[in-house]
Amino acid sequence: MAESEMYREGANEVPDCRGGLENLDEEHAYLIDDIEGDVPADLRGTFFRNGPGRQRIGDSQYGHWFDGDGMLCSFSFQDSGVQFRNRYVRTPKYIDETKAQAVQHRGFGTQVPGGLRKNFLKPPANPANTNTMWHGGHLLALNEGGKPWALDPATLETKGEFTYNGKLKGPEVFSAHGKVHPRTGDYINFGAGISGMGLKGPKPCLHIYRINPEGNLFKRASVPMANFPFCHDFALTNRYAIFFTGSIVFGNMLPVILGTRTISDQVQFDPSIPMQIIVIDLDTLQEVKRFENAPGAMIHFGNAFDDGDEVVVDGMYASDFEANDTLTDVFNPDGRFGGGTYYRYRMNMRTGSVESSKVCDVESEFPTFNLDYTGRKNSVTYTACSVDNGANSFFNAIQRITHDGDGTIVELPKGKYGSEPMFAPAVGASREDDGYILEVVYDGWTHNSELQIFRADRIEDHVCTLKLRHHVPHQFHGHFTTELFPTESANV
Ligand SMILES: [Fe+2]
Repeated sequence: MAESEMYREGANEVPDCRGGLENLDEEHAYLIDDIEGDVPADLRGTFFRNGPGRQRIGDSQYGHWFDGDGMLCSFSFQDSGVQFRNRYVRTPKYIDETKAQAVQHRGFGTQVPGGLRKNFLKPPANPANTNTMWHGGHLLALNEGGKPWALDPATLETKGEFTYNGKLKGPEVFSAHGKVHPRTGDYINFGAGISGMGLKGPKPCLHIYRINPEGNLFKRASVPMANFPFCHDFALTNRYAIFFTGSIVFGNMLPVILGTRTISDQVQFDPSIPMQIIVIDLDTLQEVKRFENAPGAMIHFGNAFDDGDEVVVDGMYASDFEANDTLTDVFNPDGRFGGGTYYRYRMNMRTGSVESSKVCDVESEFPTFNLDYTGRKNSVTYTACSVDNGANSFFNAIQRITHDGDGTIVELPKGKYGSEPMFAPAVGASREDDGYILEVVYDGWTHNSELQIFRADRIEDHVCTLKLRHHVPHQFHGHFTTELFPTESANV
């Protein structure tokens, strides 16, 4: 049976999203020559994406979507056309498992076959599969469970694990959701870790890092935490970094260390634990205020800004963590890839009050916006969302939402599944939404992927579709830069 037919029962059944989880083992580099519509002349730059490129190795399937090996893609918008490239990050896990064609490393939700003997005291590997960033002359592949991996931005070849000249020390990790602060150009990131030993054992903390525009990690601090935090993303204003630690918590980690259980097994949603909102001053990198709010979890954040005494934060709220069941068994057709709900939080730094309100009812994830507006009030956010069109096993629509919550939804045709939308400014743009929304879409009917491009100011205006010669496994996050990285051997 062809892969395009594997995920539908009959010839007329709409395919679900799972074909888009199958491996792309091959690495490509070519000029895209199958284009519907015209690529805008004022769209120039490089669109990088990262995500797990394979969920299976040999006869095995990884125990969690998060454990697939990181595969970078780049779409380079040049005068001569749009160049596509994909390449795996050569981590030890990728190299070992490609050679052995078998699971060789533990993961977030994966055990090495062979029981305790194979897993005892073995730390999970870093698959470098979650996000990517171009800053300070470094292209990084990022995963919160490890250090960055540096890549060549033109060829996507792996340079090696990256530590900012040893400034990321020992076991310190670096999140996938660092942000560039527009006022300074600094890249601000964090990692959950420990800051020494106390009477109760290791002292949990958040390490906070600032990297200047030249790519030097010049400032760092540790913010003490009561427990080891489950913290995937944060919000950034002009003055503050804001972290939400929620009701998703790590249970007993001893079985994980001993090798009998995975981290995913021990991550729990505890509705009795309220959300903590921790505000950190960007100059001192120290906590200045802490708020408590109703239980729940924030996975991804939109924009944030300072508004007088208040700090305003947009983000995607989850009332449970049931999605983790699906993520551990991604090929199970009964599992659903759910999103969150778009909320806004207003924290008053003077009175200590916090208010939350729902911005939009539509199930949404991956909020993005014009990143030049990071930390100041912006007028529009874009999300991947799920609507009930008879084929909603994954994100199947894009929404443009104004600050006041007015939404415009563009549905993909049944059987096509989207991903994180990305804003790319038009060359010479003067308005916030003068630009394009780039979205990689998996076509379940043909088992190929395509890059769809929409006007950012009128999302219903579809501009063009760039059809790839193969599929791209569903990815997590990406990054757009107006820089180009030409290669001599570009067109294959
Ligand atoms: Fe993420």
